[in-house]
Amino acid sequence: MTALIPCPPVPGPPVPRHIAIIMDGNGRWAKTRGLPRTAGHRKGMEAVRRTIIAARELGVTALTLYGFSSENWRRPESEVTSLMQLLRFYLRSEISELHKNGICLRVIGDRARLSEEIVTLIERAETLTRDNDAFTLIIALSYGSRQELTAVACRIAEAVKAGLLELGAIDEQCVTDRLFTAGIPDPDLVIRTSGEMRLSNFLLWQSAYAELIFLDTLWPDFTKRDLENAIEEFHRRDRRYGATVESR
Ligand code: FPP
Repeated sequence: MTALIPCPPVPGPPVPRHIAIIMDGNGRWAKTRGLPRTAGHRKGMEAVRRTIIAARELGVTALTLYGFSSENWRRPESEVTSLMQLLRFYLRSEISELHKNGICLRVIGDRARLSEEIVTLIERAETLTRDNDAFTLIIALSYGSRQELTAVACRIAEAVKAGLLELGAIDEQCVTDRLFTAGIPDPDLVIRTSGEMRLSNFLLWQSAYAELIFLDTLWPDFTKRDLENAIEEFHRRDRRYGATVESR
């Protein structure tokens, strides 16, 4: 990743503060070229680098990338191994660059299923970058929204049982504060590439009012122009949060 120049404020309508992306289509990208799926994932990593730079240049302040879902553990062992290798490589090779650019890294998901080595790399990266405030990069790894919400329900039940929380005090904020994403604003925009139109267990609570944009582009082909187009489409949407135009 090349060093980023401090980004001047972007003129025009406000850009989404937080964009979340379901990076889909690596396998198909490789298949159409007669390459192994892992080649698609490697190309996908280049798109990750490009997208972080583009998001910052466009004035976005938080970017969540769905790197590996709870369900991805069901893929053939060889593919899981190569995805884990790629993530390890990313965590080793990119962190100092992210740090130099004032980027704070957060990793969300079930760490119990990740190798000790990856967990150590994540912890180091999070500690190194925790005070950076130019931009937050959130990588979802071994992440599933239903699992996250189930864990929150258990934690709330335990707090009630231990007498630390009143039953009547349970509200939306109680849940929000116990999510992996605690402290991070909800995504304004969720993008999924590759033409699939579903959320696949990604940020289900956090995306309650997000605008959803589905692009045909396969993730390895994703460029700054695609991100700009998605932001332009976001600006055309009318976000009413359940109110009417008159009542806002
Ligand atoms: C979905 O495409 C993509 C993934 C499961 C992995 C995403 C991983 C990367 C982009 C590599 C680097 C990531 C980070 C965060 C450094 P798919 O394999 O399901 O594609 P298909 O639907 O065409 O088969």
